[in-house]
Amino acid sequence: MKTVRLGLLGCGTVGGGVVRLIRENASVLATRVGAPLEIAKVLVRDPNKDRVPGLERDRITTDAAAVLDDPSIDVVVEVLGGVEPAKGYVERAIDSGRSVVTANKMLLAVHGPELVERAEKAGVDLAFEASVGGGIPVIRTLREALTSDSVTRLCGIVNGTSNYILTRMRQDGMPFATALREAQDKGYAEADPGLDVDGGDAAHKLVVLAMLAFGARVPHEAVYTEGIRDIEPIDHEFAARFGYTVKHLAIGQVREVHGKKSVELRVHPALLPAHTTLANVNGVLNAILLEGRALGPCLLSGRGAGDLPTAVSVVADVVDVAGARLSGAGGRMTRSVRLAETHLAPIDDVEC
Ligand code: NAP
Ligand code: HSE
Repeated sequence: MKTVRLGLLGCGTVGGGVVRLIRENASVLATRVGAPLEIAKVLVRDPNKDRVPGLERDRITTDAAAVLDDPSIDVVVEVLGGVEPAKGYVERAIDSGRSVVTANKMLLAVHGPELVERAEKAGVDLAFEASVGGGIPVIRTLREALTSDSVTRLCGIVNGTSNYILTRMRQDGMPFATALREAQDKGYAEADPGLDVDGGDAAHKLVVLAMLAFGARVPHEAVYTEGIRDIEPIDHEFAARFGYTVKHLAIGQVREVHGKKSVELRVHPALLPAHTTLANVNGVLNAILLEGRALGPCLLSGRGAGDLPTAVSVVADVVDVAGARLSGAGGRMTRSVRLAETHLAPIDDVEC
């Protein structure tokens, strides 16, 4: 039986989780794909770091060409982070006819539409379930389950690090810096944690969600973005006294402005009534409320960051694109994304 050979770009928190999950679930994954999955090459910066147990040293390389120019690699999994060199590597993989799985929301927020178009032209898949919501199947829900409906609004807690920090500050009186350190130690935070606590990561995720939910092609810098860095213990105390909880939210909705359809996208802390569902999503959990015109509200919740929850999404994408490749049906996912230039609505006249 042919093996599906994977080239892994990056082996940190998420890459390590991917290696573990593929090893632990090898036989069931082979059945689901129709062939065994083999982690053939792993690109890292530091070849001497301790990696996930069981990963053979001879699979590790610091030479991107050893992964990208190896014709025996079937699928490339990008879990490096950042825009470059990730973008160049993803483009090389696509141009050589390989499907790509990525967890990189920054790359998708900045270059998503052009990468989707490139993959479509090449007839390969570009899959990115892990880019939003960690282990929550929100991309799949938008891409597959809700294609028969129009999504009119979404609202969610999409940054696990920020939610973890706010929860530890409110429930345990922990200082901001200590809670951030804990989130980093647990593998939740970005390599640059400023992306988490200043709202950039949530804005990237909102742009990715808006692509699928509204078909919106929007520049990520245009999203109104505020993080949690300035939230102090007294904010939690006052919020609680008046029956509220402070949460960091990403909100997207379709609006009519002067008869023209536009989308409103914003990321900021908000006061939620303490009894509401989102107010009680704590720790690293994320929750995303999608509202369909026909469906009404639909809430997805689960672990939004961390090695194994995120690996669940990455490996599910690997199963899909590898299976599609084996059956000659590559490119279906890419074709499901349809984008149009989108007008961004002003946000100064709307309520949270
Ligand atoms: P990480 O722990 O910092 O791991 C990054 C990996 O990429 C490391 O193995 C690093 O090598 C390697 N790397 C980085 N730049 C490289 C370069 N120029 N050349 C070769 N190797 C390079 O990051 P992570 O938390 O796994 O996140 C990876 C991606 O997943 C990011 O896009 C992130 O936003 C996304 N993501 C993360 C989570 C999460 O919970 N952490 C969840 C969802 C999505 P070394 O090990 O040698 O330094
Ligand atoms: N740093 C991100 C977070 C990882 O905390 O949500 C998951 O995308």
